[in-house]
Amino acid sequence: MTPRESLIFALDVDNADDAENLVRLLAPEVGVFKVGLELFVAAGPEVVERVRRAGARAIFLDLKLHDIPATMRSAARAAAGLGVDLITCHADQAGIFADMDLGKARLLGVTVLTSLGPGELEAMGYPPELCDPQALVLKRASLALTAGCAGVVCSGHEANAVRNLLGPDALIVCPGIRPASGEAHDQKRVMTPERAVAAGASHIVVGRPIRTAADPVAAAQAMVSGIARGLAQRPPA
Ligand code: C5P
Repeated sequence: MTPRESLIFALDVDNADDAENLVRLLAPEVGVFKVGLELFVAAGPEVVERVRRAGARAIFLDLKLHDIPATMRSAARAAAGLGVDLITCHADQAGIFADMDLGKARLLGVTVLTSLGPGELEAMGYPPELCDPQALVLKRASLALTAGCAGVVCSGHEANAVRNLLGPDALIVCPGIRPASGEAHDQKRVMTPERAVAAGASHIVVGRPIRTAADPVAAAQAMVSGIARGLAQRPPA
């Protein structure tokens, strides 16, 4: 994989025209374009085809499915039918899909949102031993592994431990990525691209640091350079 293929750009905009413009602008720098809840709800499923036609080579439909089994299975089938490459569910629910053929769509289990830290987990009622995000991430990553997921979503802080658990081939997708002096926004478990990739991330997800930059192309190129530096720091396989 090239460093560029490891960069996932989050198309967190509320209409298909803006999404298409971002894809046209950033396609030379970005490996995967992510359609998340905001864009999917605002623009409808057709937006996936528009993103593809605008030049996206790979598409990640990040709906973070979480519901009763029958609803999850129908939604996953419909999502896979859109021809996307990656889809997400909450990792603790991934077993619901274990026997399903999702075509080319690879399933990722979301472990613990990168906007949550120990304080938020405590307030949500988790017992003390699971208020350490890494402990909860590893528990859910093992559920995703058992369910046959292609990989998980976690923060860069857990990437190394998750890599040790899941092995060399798993996809480890890390949002909450920020440049060294970048603003965290609503994210809690943030990390630079370089450190996340050095720790074992196969992909990083970046939204606002590129989208709101004065020069989004330069910001994306800086992310790809960070990925390359992180890859260079990995021990030889
Ligand atoms: O703008 P920012 O770089 O924070 O965007 C991060 C993206 O990654 C958002 O689209 C968000 O939905 C997604 N994401 C996340 N944390 C997760 C899973 C997905 O931030 N655990």
